[in-house]
Amino acid sequence: MENIHSVLENIYNKFTHFEDKGQQATYIPELANVNENLFGISLTTLNQEQVNLGDAQQKFSVQSISKVLLLIMAYNIEGEKIWKRVDVEPSGAAFNSMILLELEKGIPRNPFINAGAIVIADILLSHYKNPENEFISFVRRLTNDTSIDFDLKVYASEKSVGYRNYALINMMKSFGNITNLIDEVMDFYFKICSLSMSCAQLSKTFLFFANDGVDPFTNEVVLTPSRNRRINAIMLLCGFYDEAGEFAYRVGLPGKSGVGGGILAILPNKYAVVVFSPKLNEKGNSYRGMAFLECLTTELSDSVF
Ligand code: DON
Repeated sequence: MENIHSVLENIYNKFTHFEDKGQQATYIPELANVNENLFGISLTTLNQEQVNLGDAQQKFSVQSISKVLLLIMAYNIEGEKIWKRVDVEPSGAAFNSMILLELEKGIPRNPFINAGAIVIADILLSHYKNPENEFISFVRRLTNDTSIDFDLKVYASEKSVGYRNYALINMMKSFGNITNLIDEVMDFYFKICSLSMSCAQLSKTFLFFANDGVDPFTNEVVLTPSRNRRINAIMLLCGFYDEAGEFAYRVGLPGKSGVGGGILAILPNKYAVVVFSPKLNEKGNSYRGMAFLECLTTELSDSVF
C-alpha cells in the first residue's frame, strides 16, 4: 500500500502539468459547464485501503459508467437470456454509432454502446414499475450512501438534444427489439446516465469486480464469480468502444469510460481505480485519464496480461 500510495502521488503530480489535448463533451450542453481542469484519482485496494488525490471527492456525471450497473441489474434478473437481445462483441464503432444496428437487425453489438444500454433499460422497464427508483436504490445500497442521486439538470439537458439516441431506439423498435414505450425507455436511459458520483465513491463501489463479485466491505454477493468474470471480459473488450484495443494495449485492464470524463478500471484480485478529467479524446474517452492509467499500470508493472 505504501508503494501504491507513493507511486500514485508521483504520477498524479506529474499529470497535473500534463498537456491535455482533449476536448470537453459539448453535445450534452450541461456537461460543457463543468470546470475542464478538474482532476481526481481514487484507488481502492482489496484490503479496503483507499488513496484519494486531487478532486477525488468532486461529484461528476458518470454517464456511460452507469451502463455497467444497469447491466448487472438486468443480468441478475434475466441471466443468459439477455444475450438474445444484445450481443457481447466489440463494435469497433463509436458509442453512438448507428451503422451496425441496421445491418444486424436491431441487435446491438454489446451492452456498453448506447444502443445496447437502451435495450438493457427496456428489459428493466419490463420488470419494474419504477425502474429509476430500483436503480438508484441499488446504487445507494452498493455505495452505502443514501445521498447518491441523479443530476436532473444533466438529465434534462441530454434529453433535450438526444436525437441520436432516439434514432437508435426507433431503429431497434422497428426490428421488434424494444418492448416498452420509446419515451419511457429513453427517460430511464437518460436518468441513469445522469448519475452523479465522485471518484472516491466509484472506486469503492466497483471494488467487487476485483473480488470475484463479492463486495469486500459488506460481503454482499453482487455477482456470482462466473458472471463477474464475464462482465470483466465485456468491459475489457467493449468498455472503450472503438478504442477498446488501444486501452487493452496501453493500460491492460477491464474498465469503462463515460463522456463526463470518468474512467473506471479494475485489476482483478488487487484494486479498482477511477480517474476523472473532463477533456476527452476523439473517441469520447478522457484524454488525461487514459494517459494516467497507462502510466499507472506501467509503473506498477501489473495488468491482466
Ligand atoms: O447517451 C449518451 O450519449 C451519453 N449519455 C453517454 C455516452 C457515453 O458516456 C460514452 N462514453 N464514453
